[in-house]
Amino acid sequence: MVKVLIDQETLRKRVEELAREIEDYYRDKTDTIHAICILKGSVHFFSDLVLNLNMNVKYSFIHVSSYQGTASTGRLQVKYWIDEPIQNEYVLLVEDIVDTGLTLQHIVKQLKKQNPKDLKIVSLIEKTVHDHGVKLDFVGFKVGNVFLIGYGLDYNERYRNLPFIGYVEE
Ligand code: IMP
Repeated sequence: MVKVLIDQETLRKRVEELAREIEDYYRDKTDTIHAICILKGSVHFFSDLVLNLNMNVKYSFIHVSSYQGTASTGRLQVKYWIDEPIQNEYVLLVEDIVDTGLTLQHIVKQLKKQNPKDLKIVSLIEKTVHDHGVKLDFVGFKVGNVFLIGYGLDYNERYRNLPFIGYVEE
């Protein structure tokens, strides 16, 4: 049975708050950012977040996968990489959830080679089970050791279109 952990209204409010935090950070620096959506899980978070940002936002996409079922395989497959230059730009990396941190560590390392002027990370959810070693600049919610579904997050490609974040109770 699917249980709700973060309902639609709570998600909407928190995404709006994150947008204000992000605008505050960039206010005296730039009026244009390059937001990078990490597919597939960040699709709804990315969309809702950028729609709430009162600034110019360029879009780019990265598609990676490493999970099978509820576990990371530890092997990251890069299926699609950004196709616009980010050199000298203010880059905002938009992630759905950070668990072991392996996905972000890899992506950040590769993006830094492309010489952005500034690279910030926003994650809707941070799992606090691992010391994942990635500095997250903006975080929506912190959770413990639970496998989440919905609002883009999947279990073997299911449940992505649930409008809330939840988990499956056996
Ligand atoms: P990490 O590399 O272990 O930090 O995992 C990051 C990626 O794994 C996320 O972008 C998600 O795609 C996926 N992931 C991690 N935890 C969950 C979860 O609880 N539900 C669904 N996907 C998850």
